[in-house]
Amino acid sequence: MIRTLAPRLVVSATLAGLLAACSSEAPVDAPAAAAEPAVIEERQDNFEAIGDAFKAVRGELEKDAPDFTLIAAKASDINTRAAKIEGHFPAGTSVDDGFDTEALAAIWQKPDDFKAAAQKLVGESAKLASLAGKGDKAAVGAQAMTMGGACKGCHDNFRLDDKK
Ligand code: HEC
Repeated sequence: MIRTLAPRLVVSATLAGLLAACSSEAPVDAPAAAAEPAVIEERQDNFEAIGDAFKAVRGELEKDAPDFTLIAAKASDINTRAAKIEGHFPAGTSVDDGFDTEALAAIWQKPDDFKAAAQKLVGESAKLASLAGKGDKAAVGAQAMTMGGACKGCHDNFRLDDKK
């Protein structure tokens, strides 16, 4: 991971230098901020999309007649995105490395637990997708709750809670 990360940092720094040189509006501290590995924003965008999809699922479940096709599609989207989580955490990208991220160092201290937490979301979202096809609102609601537990289970251990 470090081998792939280092060149990327160099490229980002070079780009930042070019951008600073080309734009009169570049803030003075732009180069330092731009040195952030691109994978951090990539994983945050991925989680944001997971959050939006989960919100859509819950929104449907508040209706008398939920759109189960939509729930199944959102659950599949979460499933695809959950499978990407593991690959989004190269070493040196924790909050302790000075980046704008909520990724705790625990991710790299307990890699097997983190991997298991990601796999749990893969499994629970797959279950939600297949249950949605059967159209039983109570069962789908219960599985959505269980899947939400997979989010919380990982966040409690591996995501910085900046509200504390
Ligand atoms: C395997 C661990 C794990 C699982 C499972 C997980 N998350 Fe996260 N989540 C994280 C980490 C770590 C961050 C912080 C990422 C960062 O800031 O670089 C995060 C960040 C987020 C964010 C903020 C993204 C942003 O804009 O910075 C949202 C929203 C989110 N998660 C929603 C969810 C939802 C909803 C689920 C379940 C459907 C879920 N997460 C499951 C670990 C996880």
